[in-house]
Amino acid sequence: MKIMLLGAPGSGKGTQGEKLSQAMGIPRLSTGDMLRAEVQAQTPIGLEIAALMPTGQLIGDEIVIGLIKQRVNQADCANGYILDGFPRTLHQAQTAVEAGILIDTLLELTVDDEAIITRMAGRRLHPASGRTYHVALNPPRVADIDDLSGEPLITRPDDEASVVRERLEIYRAQTLPLLNYFQSLAIGLRPRIMTVNGEGEVDAVAATVRQVLGSQAPI
Ligand code: AP5
Repeated sequence: MKIMLLGAPGSGKGTQGEKLSQAMGIPRLSTGDMLRAEVQAQTPIGLEIAALMPTGQLIGDEIVIGLIKQRVNQADCANGYILDGFPRTLHQAQTAVEAGILIDTLLELTVDDEAIITRMAGRRLHPASGRTYHVALNPPRVADIDDLSGEPLITRPDDEASVVRERLEIYRAQTLPLLNYFQSLAIGLRPRIMTVNGEGEVDAVAATVRQVLGSQAPI
């Protein structure tokens, strides 16, 4: 199964994508995690984007497309993948389709802006795995420590409220229109498109996602 998660920053793509990945045995491909790893490792790409990432602006299409093309060709993607945060612009979407990086299901998560601001203010991240927590709404077993590795959690610099508002604007202007793009593709390329309300308890949202993905809604 090839799934694309579409949703505003903080809508729960990472949280739900990770649960789906474990349940379905296919990897979650987060371009945000890939880009943060490049910055952390101080690769040429990382050095180029280090100053831009904390501002919430999108990274250049060619960099992101290059990373995702390499990743989908790795062996663990043979049975499918979950795209989290890609594509994010029309050019990325068109290039992906032309390159044969196809999806069969587009799952949109919707969450109110104010709920997103609250979520981001309390988010904690385990950089090595991409696992996310919230200090109150989805806490780790031990404060500021990753449940599985025991390593420390960090706060993302782009989770500051003013940056989150900017990211929400960018999402509405550049990424949300992808719904229309995928809807307009020819049969055979067009994914089934489903929307889930991303508000409510994490496990309740996860149950709805599983239910919706299990249903055979017509394309
Ligand atoms: P990226 O890392 O992809 O960030 P994002 O898309 O903005 O999404 P987030 O990771 O912020 O949120 P999420 O939807 O995954 O929510 P989460 O599950 O963490 O991208 C970061 C940056 O990288 C971009 O700004 C850009 O610069 C660059 N980039 C990445 N991809 C790019 C691309 N394709 N092109 C160009 N540039 C790109 O949840 C958020 C919080 O809420 C957590 O604390 C979580 O615990 C909590 N939470 C989750 N679900 C619930 C719930 N149901 N109830 C309560 N709390 C919840």
